[in-house]
Amino acid sequence: MTEKTLIPGLEGIPCAASSVSFIDGIAGILEYRGYDITTLANHGTFEEVAYLLLYGELPKKDELVAFDAELRANRVLKYPVLDIIKSLPSTGHPMKAIQAGVAVLGAFYPVDDLNNAHEQRLASVRLIAQLPTVVAAFHRARQGDEPIAPNVELNHATNFLYMLDGQIPSAVISRTLDIAMILHMEHTMNASTFTGRVVASTLADPYAVVSSAIGSLTGPLHGGANERALEELREIPSVDAVDEIITGKIERKDKIMGLGHRVYKTTDPRSTLLQGLCAGVFAERGSAEIFDIARKVEEIATGKLGHKGIFPNVDFYSGILYDAMGIPSDLFTPIFAVARVVGWLAHWKEQLIGNRIFRPTQIYVGHRQRPFTPMSDR
Ligand SMILES: CC(C)(COP(=O)(O)OP(=O)(O)OC[C@H]1O[C@@H](n2cnc3c(N)ncnc32)[C@H](O)[C@@H]1OP(=O)(O)O)[C@@H](O)C(=O)NCCC(=O)NCCS
Repeated sequence: MTEKTLIPGLEGIPCAASSVSFIDGIAGILEYRGYDITTLANHGTFEEVAYLLLYGELPKKDELVAFDAELRANRVLKYPVLDIIKSLPSTGHPMKAIQAGVAVLGAFYPVDDLNNAHEQRLASVRLIAQLPTVVAAFHRARQGDEPIAPNVELNHATNFLYMLDGQIPSAVISRTLDIAMILHMEHTMNASTFTGRVVASTLADPYAVVSSAIGSLTGPLHGGANERALEELREIPSVDAVDEIITGKIERKDKIMGLGHRVYKTTDPRSTLLQGLCAGVFAERGSAEIFDIARKVEEIATGKLGHKGIFPNVDFYSGILYDAMGIPSDLFTPIFAVARVVGWLAHWKEQLIGNRIFRPTQIYVGHRQRPFTPMSDR
């Protein structure tokens, strides 16, 4: 019998061969389908990068036009789906609403042949197009407002912001969300992607795959760190107070939210890009001390913790950024899901090629062969 060793969290254990994305955590490199994330963020759009992740190649002009048109045409939710979203408690977290919303979509759109390219495309487009509508509809409903119908004239990111409050955002704000969503689209074998692949391996439909992945993303160890990073930064009263507060935390060995990463041992490239986006938004919306505080935290913390490989991660600046854009903090993780759905779907399609159902083993540590004690003797 072979000796089995338990690796908690399967840390470092490959669970799939994948060509969707690549990370070099030492060099601080993230690539989608071989393209550097900084290049994609600076030159790509949400629609273009989504196509790249789903189909493996950058779209030609006509391919992008067709894909974009399909996304725009598939944003509207069926009335019964809207009714279900409206019937959810307004106090519930929006992540619950989108998980439920996606599961409900699966009831309306059965997928007969998972390996049929046309059906795969239809389901992928529908999920990417309708997730923002679900988030926005729940956000409006919980405030007692009617949902705002999607606007076919607007691109994906702009339409999402429009459906939240009925205002068409400035070009700077809309491009900022477009880039932030590119940065959140995909990140190799994280917990939610692994969840999605496990569900995909059972040949469940893509709605089950995505709703399970959303459930995985709701946990504070995965999707929720940007909200907490923002809260921590808000507790720092001024730039002058940063040194003492951060030094104290480091001495007490408190974790500073938004710093450190299991894979990156240098600055997460997404954090550098998000810091740059903050600068653009604050230039338009007026400067805010929280951004200066964050930069000071970064300076002090990396000075003291850089030798341990602790640098800002994607969550450090994204909370400040979304807050400056007027987005409520409990929508930060839903926005993550609205972007990450693309990566989940790329992995779903990849899992189906040569699929083998996930069936790991365990190391049994419980009792064996126990005699049954009758109730009267217990
Ligand atoms: C993400 C995280 C879990 C990665 O953890 P990890 O790779 O297992 O790193 P470790 O927890 O082993 O930490 C290594 C060292 O750095 C320190 N460290 C790690 N993250 C730190 C942080 N955010 N603030 C201060 N110190 C930190 C640890 O205390 C440890 O110090 P030690 O060697 O003196 O004991 C961790 O950095 C963390 O909790 N960060 C804050 C939460 C967060 O931002 N999460 C979002 C991640 S995208």
